Amino acid sequence: MKKVILLIAALLLASFAAGAQQRRPDAPLPKWEGLADTPQMGWSSWNKFQTEINEKLIRETADKMVELGLVDAGYVYLNLDDGWHGERDEQGFVHEDLEKFPSGMKALADYLHSKGLKLGIYSDAGTNTCACYTGSLGHEYQDAFMYAQWGVDYLKYDWCYTNNVNPRGAYALMRNALRKAGRPILFSICEWGSNKPWEWAADVGHSWRTTGDIGVCFLPVPTRYDQNGRPMWKPLSVLEIADINEPLRQYAGPGHWNDPDMLEVGNGMTAAEDRSHFTLWCMMAAPLILGNDITDMTPETLATITNKEVIAIDQDPLGIQGLRLKKEGDLQYWFKPLEDGDWAFCIVNAGEAPVTVDLDWQSLEVNDELSGRTTSFDSVNYTVKDLWNASAKPFTTLVKGKGKLRGQMVQNTASAVVGSHDVACYRLSPVK
Ligand code: GLA
Repeated sequence: MKKVILLIAALLLASFAAGAQQRRPDAPLPKWEGLADTPQMGWSSWNKFQTEINEKLIRETADKMVELGLVDAGYVYLNLDDGWHGERDEQGFVHEDLEKFPSGMKALADYLHSKGLKLGIYSDAGTNTCACYTGSLGHEYQDAFMYAQWGVDYLKYDWCYTNNVNPRGAYALMRNALRKAGRPILFSICEWGSNKPWEWAADVGHSWRTTGDIGVCFLPVPTRYDQNGRPMWKPLSVLEIADINEPLRQYAGPGHWNDPDMLEVGNGMTAAEDRSHFTLWCMMAAPLILGNDITDMTPETLATITNKEVIAIDQDPLGIQGLRLKKEGDLQYWFKPLEDGDWAFCIVNAGEAPVTVDLDWQSLEVNDELSGRTTSFDSVNYTVKDLWNASAKPFTTLVKGKGKLRGQMVQNTASAVVGSHDVACYRLSPVK
């Protein structure tokens, strides 16, 4: 009898121990890894079309992205932003607006996949999206399941209508749901930096917005006031966003990027401003999500967004966000450490007149504690390649200290002319 009791006790204990090892149903699940080793690239409908989106527009955009070489350049995500939602059914499952997308979301995903593109979609952690369509609050697992069924590859998750919602919990919940749904989906957090996601979201999402919404403006726009004298909402300019995003560089890295919002290139700024905006986003290792009308753009816009050497700065495998070395009057000097000892270097001119800048490398020495890299201009010779001026021949830096090229200039361009609101951008490669 005693033996039987002991046996039963041992069995009970063993089954209890096994149970304890099982996952609790609400235990956190890891985010999908390997989806954003370099910042994601693609296109989103929001900046140009807002909620005026439909299947025809998206298919035409996809066709043009292939035709113009944008997919080859790396822009693989085609993201529907706000405005695709239809109604929830009786069980609470979400459906697409079949007037806008008569063939359905699954057919759209199949079409994009057949073209080498991936489908992105948009939702919100609150009761409603910012344009007042249905939000995912209380439907997180159902929505993630639906996205996976459709073949979605990317989710931007917004933060409107989230009274009393805990941000860390809400984003972790959707991360878990996406994991549980079984399809790798890049998770783009969009709560505008309100709750400092850079401090807690590295294992939740693949990028997080660091600022409010961008506008089609290079310099800050003046504040306007309503009839009660209260300041009205205004979009952020390219330079304001760069100011907010730059100091957060320590938090970015492969798989988890600072997101200074989608691009406004081609939406109405000057060609120079577009170039500066695009270059700054690349220097900051930002997700490059185009926001213009792909079916109707100028050759200049196309040239800007497909400059492979500037894109390579953004996509550099080291994944180190660049730094602003200094602001001097209207000029900003930026550096970004790249693989193989290379550096990207650019000068942005925020002023109204062109400036001729003397490229005195000794005065531009960088000692970057974050990456542990220094430019060592006193001992390393660099080949310097101008990335926006294709006709400029690369030249070699003149080294004042030691170095085998001491005193030699391969080309006598040791100065750069930077136009108003324009940028000069270079890749520096050590002479081996
Ligand atoms: C918020 C986001 C924008 C966009 C809109 C859609 O403002 O920050 O990027 O997604 O919502 O309504």
